[in-house]
Amino acid sequence: MFTQVEAESAVNQAKIDIEKRTSRQLPILLTNFSGSLALYEEAKKHLPSGASSNVRVYAHDPFPISFQRGQGSKVWDIDNNQYVDLLSSYGAVVLGHSHPAILNAINAQIRNGTMLGTTTELEVEVAKKIQSAVPCAEMVSFTNTGTEATMEAIRIARAFTGRDKIVKFEGHYHGHHDYVLFSVESPSVVAGLEQAPSKLPYYPGIPDGIAKSVVVAPWNDPVSLERVLKRNASDLAAIITEPVMGSAGVIPPKEDYLKSVRELADKYDALLIFDEVLTGFRIAPGGAQEFYGVKPDLACYAKALGGGTPIAAVAGRRDVMGMIGPGKIGYGGTYNGNSMCLAAANATLDELLKDDAAPIRHMHLTGAEIMEGLRELMSRYDHDGIVQGMGPMFQLYFTAARKIQNYRHTLQSDFEKFRRFRNLMLRRGVYFHPDGTERMMITAAHEDGDVESILSAAEDSLRELKRAS
Ligand SMILES: Cc1ncc(COP(=O)(O)O)c(C=O)c1O
Repeated sequence: MFTQVEAESAVNQAKIDIEKRTSRQLPILLTNFSGSLALYEEAKKHLPSGASSNVRVYAHDPFPISFQRGQGSKVWDIDNNQYVDLLSSYGAVVLGHSHPAILNAINAQIRNGTMLGTTTELEVEVAKKIQSAVPCAEMVSFTNTGTEATMEAIRIARAFTGRDKIVKFEGHYHGHHDYVLFSVESPSVVAGLEQAPSKLPYYPGIPDGIAKSVVVAPWNDPVSLERVLKRNASDLAAIITEPVMGSAGVIPPKEDYLKSVRELADKYDALLIFDEVLTGFRIAPGGAQEFYGVKPDLACYAKALGGGTPIAAVAGRRDVMGMIGPGKIGYGGTYNGNSMCLAAANATLDELLKDDAAPIRHMHLTGAEIMEGLRELMSRYDHDGIVQGMGPMFQLYFTAARKIQNYRHTLQSDFEKFRRFRNLMLRRGVYFHPDGTERMMITAAHEDGDVESILSAAEDSLRELKRAS
């Protein structure tokens, strides 16, 4: 079992390593981004807003950098600038870019077909690996994206309970299907009370009718959650939560919070769905449910599962998952369980879980070193802020707030300052996620040299930011 105790020992080790950091090389300043700008101008003529996903343009200032290739922890843009990558394909490339084991597995598979359209031996093999790693995974069902996984899990929960309402938390993101696109990034002026957030569609195009079956609660607050559950008790299908909130920076659950959510779900007869799209196969082999020792009824996986290929899964209780099948819930998808992505998932799981999950431990240690180093630098250069995370996922908030435990607390952050910091880091060859409301992702490929590059760039950037303020 990989638990909080082990993660804490990584943090202590990181403190020692940071103290050893004495000399450093000055980062080279990158100056030419003209190829990215030209591509962006061209892309806007052909793709709405110049990208196939909003997050690839939103908050990119003044224009998105276009990557051309990736290897391990590094990416190179179209102008051949090299970066230490902390976007890590939004967390998908958990082993780093172009990992040889994944490339070899895909190469070997595609000679026999990219997809075959039947259940395959490989599908059963990967399902068994998920079952042995994930505590709740009595049954596994494959799909392609995190969005599809949460959509299917919600439908399964509704069919199993015969009830309609889903409780989701303010600030949590579960993909882009209508049922979860409420109160994801509510502006503070319309968000309502912290303890009783208004239910707001994330963007236009979400039918009013859908809103009736979704209830929004504040996170990390069992008292408010119980109030919401009591009010909707007659029609509750499920509570869906990110077990570590990763859609407003990174916000770990308060001590025993997830246990309280489990107890409340049981008390009000609702299923509990963990959206482990970010945490799964990353913070522990069995994800957040292993790490925090709380078993949901259903869990959703994507990102790390495929090591950079589009594969996702719903896993859960045998009786609940038994709702899927002919004559029961329709579960479909031409590309579900395709051989190419299963081969990648198979190789990814083997790599991540080898040597008693050494790559996962390595990511915790690397994360702890970077976070500890950033905290020290924030204080050395006199910036108010909070650096927090969970092992391989972290965020830096410029804020005078003393704690960040829910979405509302993040609204006090200075995102404009984050934007300036991020651009200074970019010029020093470190690719921070441009959106201060998202997160950095460390992969198993990040090594000591990367930590050094990140902290050197951060030192110069924080110093420059201070001088400019
Ligand atoms: C927690 C969480 N759930 C679901 C999703 C949706 O996954 P996908 O983009 O694969 O549809 C994301 C995507 O970032 C996510 O972070």
